[in-house]
Amino acid sequence: MDMLTWIKSRRSTRRYASKPVESEKIHAVLEAGCYAPSGGNNQSWHFVVLKDPQVLAELAERVQQAFRGMTYDETTYASLANSIRLSQRGNYVFHYGAPVLIVVTNKKGYGNAMADSACALENMMLMANALDLGSCWINQLHWLDENPEIRAYLAQFGVGAEETVCGAVALGYADTPDGLPERTPLPRKDIRITMV
Ligand SMILES: Cc1cc2nc3c(=O)[nH]c(=O)nc-3n(C[C@H](O)[C@H](O)[C@H](O)COP(=O)(O)O)c2cc1C
Repeated sequence: MDMLTWIKSRRSTRRYASKPVESEKIHAVLEAGCYAPSGGNNQSWHFVVLKDPQVLAELAERVQQAFRGMTYDETTYASLANSIRLSQRGNYVFHYGAPVLIVVTNKKGYGNAMADSACALENMMLMANALDLGSCWINQLHWLDENPEIRAYLAQFGVGAEETVCGAVALGYADTPDGLPERTPLPRKDIRITMV
C-alpha cells in the first residue's frame, strides 16, 4: 500500500484478541514513535510500555475507581462522561483489554509536550496498522494526569513528578474473524481547506 492508503486505513480498534504481540512488533512501533518530529528536536518523550496482564488489570481497576467518584452533567465532554458512567456501573476497562498499552509522557511545563506526544502517538498507530496490529488512542490517563492515586501507581514504572501524561496507545491483534483491524475509513466531515 502507498503512504496515503496506510494513513486512510488506520482505524481505532476497540476489541482485542488475547494473542500476545511479538516483541519485534512492539519495538518497531516504539521506533516509529521515537522517529516522530519534536519541537526544537527535544525528543523528550517517555514511552512506558505496559504488557504485564496483572499490571494492565490493576491499572484498569484503579482507573475505574478514579472515575467512579466523579460526577458529570450535560456539559461534560461526552467521552469523559461515558468513562464516568461505565465506571459507576462497574464494567469499565479503559484500555479495552488490549495486551499492550504504551503510555506517552513528556516534560511537565514544556509547551510542546502534547504536540510532540501526538506526533509520536500517530506515528505508532500508523506503524501498528502497517504491522497488521489494531491500535487506539487512549486518553483516560491524560484526564487523570493529576490524580494522586494513578500517579502513585505509574510512579513505580518510572513516571516521575516532573512528567505529564499526554496520552497512550492500546495495541494488539484485532478480535475479528481474520485477525486484521477494521480498515474502512470513516467518511470525512465538512473539513475546511483554504488554498490561496
Ligand atoms: C486526542 C484523541 C483522544 C482519543 N481518545 C480516545 C479514547 O480515550 N478512547 C477511545 O476509544 N478512542 C479515543 N480516540 C479515538 C477517536 O475516537 C477516533 O480516532 C475517532 O472516533 C475516529 O475513528 P478512527 O480512529 O477509527 O478513524 C481518541 C483520538 C484522539 C485523536
